[in-house]
Amino acid sequence: MKRHAALETLSFEHHDALVIALRIKKGLLKNGDLEPIVEYVLSIYRNHLLHHFEQEEKTLVILLNSIPQIQQALRQMLSEHQRLAEIIRHLEKKEGNLQAHLNEFATLLQQHIRFEERTLFKLAEKYLTQEQLKVIGIFLHDAHKPINKNWQPEFWKD
Ligand SMILES: [Fe+2]
Repeated sequence: MKRHAALETLSFEHHDALVIALRIKKGLLKNGDLEPIVEYVLSIYRNHLLHHFEQEEKTLVILLNSIPQIQQALRQMLSEHQRLAEIIRHLEKKEGNLQAHLNEFATLLQQHIRFEERTLFKLAEKYLTQEQLKVIGIFLHDAHKPINKNWQPEFWKD
């Protein structure tokens, strides 16, 4: 199914974030120094993912809050955003098993994006009015900040 134009910038960002998740996983497979991967993840999170999550929360939560059929999906979105933020805090403090944190971050990011694309956005398209979607679209297009996929981290290069 084609994504509604109002949500397309979020879907572009999802596509970029899947590339990021794959890079983290491939970086981990190299069994090298984890420090550059941690720095990469922190930078992508601070510069892109956090902004993306905030845009989703600002638009979707406010408009979808009154629709009962969407509550469970909204709660899942919020709790996954929170879990990703929690992993970031561990990475910032360099606490615990960094390899496990990085792996969980990449895996959860992939699952989270699939859930939003296949479930949450479909519900939003179903239950929001065209007028609401138009308002969301204008806001999101203004806020769109593409992830720089061309920036190749050192750990990724052969
Ligand atoms: Fe998202």
